[in-house]
Amino acid sequence: MTNFIKVATLDDVSEGEMYAIEVDGEPVCLTRVEGQIYAFTDNCTHISGPLNDGELEGCVVTCPWHGAQFDVRTGQVLRGPARQDLYTYPVKVEDNAIFISLPDEEYSE
Ligand code: FES
Repeated sequence: MTNFIKVATLDDVSEGEMYAIEVDGEPVCLTRVEGQIYAFTDNCTHISGPLNDGELEGCVVTCPWHGAQFDVRTGQVLRGPARQDLYTYPVKVEDNAIFISLPDEEYSE
């Protein structure tokens, strides 16, 4: 089931920057890489470091707490200590508005 919610506008999200937002009580990080908008859970899968406070280099975010790295496009873990991929939200852009789709249930394992 798709359940897209407007979360921001394109003007709010600059290339290479990360933004912490809360959607339906969940911490979400928005970013833009090579013009494409990505959204992923803002909690590192190690012990919930705030990824929006980390570093973004290209499509790789580094957790500010213990240095785990993830690909923001897919959520894939690239470096530990995290072992679980990030949840990434489907994103849709219409006109100037950014929508993300919330999962039907809590994050899958
Ligand atoms: S909380 Fe992110 S690497 Fe530990």
